[in-house]
Amino acid sequence: MALVEQALYEHASSPSPYVTEAARHLLAAGGKRFRPLLVLLAAEAGPDPGHEDVLTAACVVEITHVGSLYHDDVMDEAALRRGEASANSRYDNHVAILTGDWLFAKSSELTALLGAEAVGIQAATFTRLVEGQILEGVEPEGDPLQHYLDVVAGKTGSLIATSARYGARFAGAGREVEEALTAYGEIVGSAFQLSDDILDVASDSEESGKTPGTDLREGVPTLPVLMAQASTDPADARLLELLGSDLSDDARHAEALALLRKHPALDQARSYVVAQAQEAKALLTALPEGSVRSALEDFADLVAVRSS
Ligand code: IPE
Ligand code: IPE
Ligand code: MG
Ligand code: MG
Repeated sequence: MALVEQALYEHASSPSPYVTEAARHLLAAGGKRFRPLLVLLAAEAGPDPGHEDVLTAACVVEITHVGSLYHDDVMDEAALRRGEASANSRYDNHVAILTGDWLFAKSSELTALLGAEAVGIQAATFTRLVEGQILEGVEPEGDPLQHYLDVVAGKTGSLIATSARYGARFAGAGREVEEALTAYGEIVGSAFQLSDDILDVASDSEESGKTPGTDLREGVPTLPVLMAQASTDPADARLLELLGSDLSDDARHAEALALLRKHPALDQARSYVVAQAQEAKALLTALPEGSVRSALEDFADLVAVRSS
């Protein structure tokens, strides 16, 4: 991960000092580096985990992710990211969008070093990610929970699945292991987003580095909200009324957030994430028993208990 860190910094460099500064803004702010970590971990399942393509792939997924954060904060009108000012508030929407584009272009340049197949995988992943982001803002046609789960799989599951795939592939793991790890990454990735949505309600900004209640304010229905909305308990009448209304008003937003924080839907959503982590772990039987498999099991569990 130290090598990844150094390489990320070197890749986020342009002949223009202004572009370099804008591109490094969120990279320097930190973040969990969950996706490159999964690349490296999945690579341990192959015979050549130290291959330089593994390092390149780790940079590709993190740079793609960071680019998506620049755009996401514009979409969500978020002021805080990784404990720092978001790019849209540090600069403006135009700079944030174009720097996101610059980062996507940079990750494509790097993917080209990994060969044509990797370019195809990266393009298909990015298609799914963007489709998920688009559909988040579209009224569901059928079941709202299914719509939400499809959005989550697209916007977050896709890139985390590809992180696991790249690790296995570029370390020379066999086809069967690569497929199992991709399926594992898809479920871990969706569960990771579900826990992010729980943290949007439950955690404060010191922990998350983001502004709590952003999804509520933006009117994005997430797992705890959808679960609370299924309640028929008359005691939930006020919460349901608030959730069905515009929450851009500070007082109404604070009231909805406080009611949701103590609602059983939050624990119900947590149990759902725990079950997803179990499902992901069950896919690891394609790997031999040992320290790599148990580290991947722990990695799946982390998603269910993380607090930032
Ligand atoms: C935030 O991702 C956006 C989601 C897809 C949930 P992370 O939680 O991985 O953010 P960083 O990289 O640690 O800042
Ligand atoms: C972000 O989803 C997904 C992508 C960046 C693709 P969210 O909007 O839920 O993530 P946060 O809470 O801002 O990190
Ligand atoms: Mg957001
Ligand atoms: Mg968003």
